[in-house]
Amino acid sequence: MTINRTNITALSDKELKDLITSDKYDSRLFALSDSLRREYYGTEVFIRGLIEFTNICKNNCLYCGLRCDNTSLSRYRLSQNDILSACDEGYALGFRTFVLQGGEDTFCTDEYICRIVYAIKTRFPDCAVTLSIGEKSRKSYAAYLSAGATRYLLRHETADYAHYSRLHPASLSLENRKKCLFNLKELGFQTGAGFMVGSPYQTSENIVSDFRFLQELSPDMIGIGPFIPHSETPFAAFPQGSLSLTLRLLALLRIFFPYALIPATTALGTIHPEGREMGLRAGANVLMPNLSPPSVRRLYSLYDNKICTGEEAAECIACLKSRVDSVGYKIVANIGDVRRHNN
Ligand code: 5AD
Ligand code: SF4
Ligand code: FES
Repeated sequence: MTINRTNITALSDKELKDLITSDKYDSRLFALSDSLRREYYGTEVFIRGLIEFTNICKNNCLYCGLRCDNTSLSRYRLSQNDILSACDEGYALGFRTFVLQGGEDTFCTDEYICRIVYAIKTRFPDCAVTLSIGEKSRKSYAAYLSAGATRYLLRHETADYAHYSRLHPASLSLENRKKCLFNLKELGFQTGAGFMVGSPYQTSENIVSDFRFLQELSPDMIGIGPFIPHSETPFAAFPQGSLSLTLRLLALLRIFFPYALIPATTALGTIHPEGREMGLRAGANVLMPNLSPPSVRRLYSLYDNKICTGEEAAECIACLKSRVDSVGYKIVANIGDVRRHNN
């Protein structure tokens, strides 16, 4: 097969599965994905300041260290002042997008979230606010939009119903997760979906379903990263996701969705010291460094051994700049909107 975008996007499920599971095409896939990323985004890398504002969560996802059954974790919630200070620091460092990410913390009502979003937008009118706070009603999403949030991240985690139910408690359903994502799109959010690579029980057929679901949703952002076990979860003994498969899937995502904003995730940087650089070379074009106060970084423990929990934001961004330069790309200080067309 000639490796080009037309051929790859026309593959049958079986052919796509074979491509996902073979390393035979890797160098050609990476060359094609890098040429597409350059066509749409040049060598630019967008940065998003991640503010992990609460590690309190009512849910009990089997893979996640923030699950409510993990009683060994100290829980925190940043005040609005802490959040605004993190934004101040980020703005001075060149960030023009702030991502408010948190567990599903019932204390954070819609009014509470809207107040914070509105305060950030008032202080930084030239910045975008992204929310990543889980499954909410359409009405709640509409309220966040009115308050000034324009982007929303909600990974679908897996597009296979049986697999979804092995990763989540019975209170969560793939059906509702999909409904949330379509609601976000319909309301006009720049919407992000995604999944973990190598999550327990994941098959290559599941990954094909993930690609098919993403084709149906056509999200603006797609976040994938390796599954990494957390010691205080039922999945503590499962192996972490593979680096080479994650990189191959990043390349395939760029080929299927050339316009997309695709982060080289912290999880990828956690399983290999140069994981994020390799992710950029494979097709990723976004980095999401942490702006949370270092005192709480360690407590946002989705998985074990997370990197960058000891550094100040300024140290991380300096470190990242040289890492990005080392692979021939460039961090830019703009709002970094999606580019649906290559012009
Ligand atoms: N390993 C890797 N990623 C994880 N996430 C949650 N737990 C883990 C883990 N153990 C991811 C999920 C979630 C995002 C915020 O973090 O995909 O959507
Ligand atoms: Fe809560 Fe999200 Fe972790 Fe699930 S993945 S337990 S919803 S923080
Ligand atoms: Fe955080 Fe290097 S990127 S310390």
